[in-house]
Amino acid sequence: MVGSLNVDLVTEVRRHPSPGETVLGGDLRRSRGGKGANQAIGAVRAGASVALVGRVGDDADGRAYRDALAAAGVDVTHLRTTPDVATGTALIVVDGRGENTIVVAPGANARLTAADVRDAAGAIRGADVVLVQLEIGQDAVDAVSEVAGEAGTRLVLNASPVRPLPPSLLALADPLVVNEHEAREYDAVSLCVTLGSAGARWGEDSATPPRVEVVDTTGAGDAFAGALAAALAAGEGRAGALGAAVAAGAEATTWLGAQPG
Ligand code: RIB
Repeated sequence: MVGSLNVDLVTEVRRHPSPGETVLGGDLRRSRGGKGANQAIGAVRAGASVALVGRVGDDADGRAYRDALAAAGVDVTHLRTTPDVATGTALIVVDGRGENTIVVAPGANARLTAADVRDAAGAIRGADVVLVQLEIGQDAVDAVSEVAGEAGTRLVLNASPVRPLPPSLLALADPLVVNEHEAREYDAVSLCVTLGSAGARWGEDSATPPRVEVVDTTGAGDAFAGALAAALAAGEGRAGALGAAVAAGAEATTWLGAQPG
């Protein structure tokens, strides 16, 4: 896993404000998030052995996050600490229907370099699957693609937040995981599209999630991606991996926050 770690600062509103508008929210909650760490936890919960390549700040949040990941069974050998910059932070607002808006201040995540990724090349080469998202810089993502391509490690790319990507990356990703809106942006060889409560499709295969009582959709896509990568690493085919992933994504909407408490 190569990706981001954030402290999520979350409040709830009845409805999202329009630009220029102020609304009152509920109490502020702090929880662990970031797409890389959320997906690492999702993959561990799905039974995979996971190492996370990333960066936190040299602050209390970064230290606490490192300890929490290690306690959850994530290998943090390649989690670096960056001086003089804060651990990534996400400002999350959840409305009465469980829909969220998220603004990320990347902090240490933006300092993850291609050299950091190459230093972890042994872990990527030795893995069945490497999963990466786009809350880190493109140089780091390109380095993941290079190392994975050379080693023959399967690259699963969750293209979130959306940004233009080089054709070589779109050709290598198997699959590129995106939501319906993001899917319009990419012409990928292997495209897995999440469809919210309708499940997901990947080529000819599709899966529908169990019905659940939705509390908060934050991190549902990450649980999906983590479980998908874990299932592929365990040797599942598309249909089996999709089934496991939609179930994990649905389960993640039943708790508050991006990771289970
Ligand atoms: O996908 C949800 C995640 O997006 C949150 O945990 C937040 O940190 C942002 O990275």
